[in-house]
Amino acid sequence: MRIMVDTNKCSGHARCAALAPHVYALDDQGYAVPFDGEVAPEDEKAAVAGVHACPERAITADRR
Ligand code: F3S
Repeated sequence: MRIMVDTNKCSGHARCAALAPHVYALDDQGYAVPFDGEVAPEDEKAAVAGVHACPERAITADRR
């Protein structure tokens, strides 16, 4: 599964990193670090929780 973080939409809610700290990282200001890549199978459930938890809809998941 591929995850894409649109940092232009991120407002620093930090819910993604709270739910999936192995997938999402925050910068020094608390905004999501740009990420566009594959997620390890064991992290997919947490990654999807992060997608749904973001109030800005800044993260999308692409299952293949
Ligand atoms: Fe940003 Fe959404 Fe995470 S606003 S810090 S991508 S929960």
